[in-house]
Amino acid sequence: MNAIITGATKGIGKATLLLLAKEGWNIAASSRSEDDLKALKEEFESKFPTQKIYIDSVDFSEKSATKQYGDKMSERWPEIDLLINNAGVFLPGAVHSEPEGVLEQTIDLNVYGPYHLTRSILPRMLERRIGHIINICSIASLMSYANGGAYTISKFALLGFSKALREEMKPYGIKVTSIMPGATWSASWEGATFPEDRLMPPEDVAEVIVSCTRMGPSAVVEDIVIRPQLGDL
Ligand SMILES: NC(=O)c1ccc[n+]([C@@H]2O[C@H](COP(=O)([O-])OP(=O)(O)OC[C@H]3O[C@@H](n4cnc5c(N)ncnc54)[C@H](OP(=O)(O)O)[C@@H]3O)[C@@H](O)[C@H]2O)c1
Repeated sequence: MNAIITGATKGIGKATLLLLAKEGWNIAASSRSEDDLKALKEEFESKFPTQKIYIDSVDFSEKSATKQYGDKMSERWPEIDLLINNAGVFLPGAVHSEPEGVLEQTIDLNVYGPYHLTRSILPRMLERRIGHIINICSIASLMSYANGGAYTISKFALLGFSKALREEMKPYGIKVTSIMPGATWSASWEGATFPEDRLMPPEDVAEVIVSCTRMGPSAVVEDIVIRPQLGDL
């Protein structure tokens, strides 16, 4: 089984990659930092020597790079079973005061990235009538909060994309899942001084994501909300 994971070198993406690998998946991992990707490949190959990992440095906020990567993966791997659109950015700010351009920058990665990558990968999935797209949305896809201006707008849009795709893919046997995590320890929370248990570990979110891949062909997990036990921050 072959999975593509974007933003796979850190946080939720990396935890999901490691859990999928434990279950025998081959992985195509992507992010921008080549050093982080090389380190990930070394770790993967030492832990899972019989499985395949591809690494590619891609900036998914760039449309042409995203489409090129999707086309390359479709040629390299005719059988892609799973695409996890995970790479995302959170730039804190309020709609009324954030600098101009923050919305565009956020939407380029959080919405157009998954949109263009999914469209490049889908033709092969449609041919095979097998596939699963998992979109890592957010609690911010469901509700807004202070200081989450452009991010909230982008994650509402990502959930809209995910829901539209779910409806479209029903007759083709292709599953679409939207995951809505709350605050999860990751690079984006570096420097935060909350107690360890105030946020979720990425491994718990990964467990939820991977559980969605374990159903038979007649069931799909459409939406999952997972929050810190103490609620949102
Ligand atoms: N952490 C949370 O509290 C939380 C809550 C709800 C939803 N989410 C969502 O979950 C997803 C993962 O979040 P995370 O906090 O686990 O992330 P993270 O630890 O900040 O890691 C982000 C990953 O995406 C890559 N990335 C960032 N910008 C990229 C770009 N332009 N092109 C390609 N790759 C890029 C990063 O590597 P490079 O920097 O090397 O590119 C890294 O691998 C995001 O969509 C986020 O919105 C997170």
